[in-house]
Amino acid sequence: MSALSFSSGLAWLGVLTAVVFAIQAIQTVSISLRPSKLRRYLHTSPDGRPPWVLVTGASDGIGKALSNELAASGFNVVLHGRNRTKLLNVQSELSQAHPARSFRLLIADATQCQPEVFKDIADQLSDLHLTGLVNNVGGGGSGTLFATLDHYTAQNTTEIVNLNALFPTLLVGTLLPTLVQNSPALLMSTGSITDAGVPLVSAYSASKGYLKTLAESLAREVKMAGWDIEVLHLRVGMVTGVAGNKRKPSMFMPRAPVFAKAVLARVGCGSPVVIPYWGHALQTVPLGFMPSWLEDMLIEYSMRDINSVFSSTPAASHEAAKTK
Ligand SMILES: NC(=O)c1ccc[n+]([C@@H]2O[C@H](COP(=O)([O-])OP(=O)(O)OC[C@H]3O[C@@H](n4cnc5c(N)ncnc54)[C@H](OP(=O)(O)O)[C@@H]3O)[C@@H](O)[C@H]2O)c1
Ligand SMILES: *[C@@H]1O[C@H](CO)[C@@H](O)[C@H](O)[C@H]1NC(C)=O
Ligand SMILES: *[C@@H]1O[C@H](CO)[C@@H](O)[C@H](O)[C@H]1NC(C)=O
Repeated sequence: MSALSFSSGLAWLGVLTAVVFAIQAIQTVSISLRPSKLRRYLHTSPDGRPPWVLVTGASDGIGKALSNELAASGFNVVLHGRNRTKLLNVQSELSQAHPARSFRLLIADATQCQPEVFKDIADQLSDLHLTGLVNNVGGGGSGTLFATLDHYTAQNTTEIVNLNALFPTLLVGTLLPTLVQNSPALLMSTGSITDAGVPLVSAYSASKGYLKTLAESLAREVKMAGWDIEVLHLRVGMVTGVAGNKRKPSMFMPRAPVFAKAVLARVGCGSPVVIPYWGHALQTVPLGFMPSWLEDMLIEYSMRDINSVFSSTPAASHEAAKTK
């Protein structure tokens, strides 16, 4: 009798797991079938000024691809970066592709987060009817990327946290009044599925976790305040065609332009945090169901794999850390 109820309990657990899986799958599919609401943010100001979006880290990779897609959708784009020459090249490329659009450059080193930086940015953009902000800038800073935290100097860590967390936060604080005034407005951020807590990139991983929580807080804040601002945080897996990765694309690793299309298609999906690319979403589904020891094993395994592909300077690599 008790054996019977035990096995029927297990059966019910199986059914429950299947149902949860199915709901997740349906959610993933239905989110990707919903039409994009990007055009909501494509409106002129009462005094007739055209809509602009600021994209940070727009001189390469995902930021450049997003800028291109936004321009194709009718937005004028402020291209942010730190290298004027590189940005000028991107500007001329995008101007040629989208002759009806305007582009403007914003130069700022995103590892520098002094108050004057943001005062200056606000001044430079004050004449624009900004209806969107894409906090895309980020990455591993000037470092070697894959190493245990003790290999990072205080400056390395500060750079990474500034670049991925503090700079976007201060930028939102600076531009929120503008976005509120120009609403409906869109506030996006480029995070990473490494926000789950990945070794050998711990400062980066944690900064992306911060950025995700920031988006969740802001989404609720915006609702409480009654502002018509959509907060959309992107959890991103591997993307190729970026500065640090030129490998062949695969099911789990789209090219930046393909990824950018998927991102804009998710606008208006109703959730503040999304995995915009289906291949990345598929990759992360099993993680939610695994026992933590298996999850640890899988993450460690994939980091060894990535480490061996990317690590060009073994001095601070995982192997060095292991033999210490
Ligand atoms: N590619 C991936 O597999 C992947 C995966 C998960 C998340 N992400 C996230 O996606 C975002 C874009 O990355 P990406 O792959 O497109 O990289 P990317 O090709 O290296 O582009 C990064 C952009 O940010 C700019 N940037 C970097 N450091 C800066 C600084 N200190 N000040 C100002 N601008 C700076 C770069 O400028 P320069 O051209 O001057 O370098 C470039 O425009 C990042 O937030 C990254 O964390 C990427
Ligand atoms: C800036 O970009 C140009 C053009 O891509 C490149 O040649 C130059 O090395 C870059 N400068 C720095 C400091 O990275
Ligand atoms: C720390 O920064 C220095 C100088 O920018 C760099 O050479 C080094 O690789 C970085 N270390 C790590 C672990 O990222």
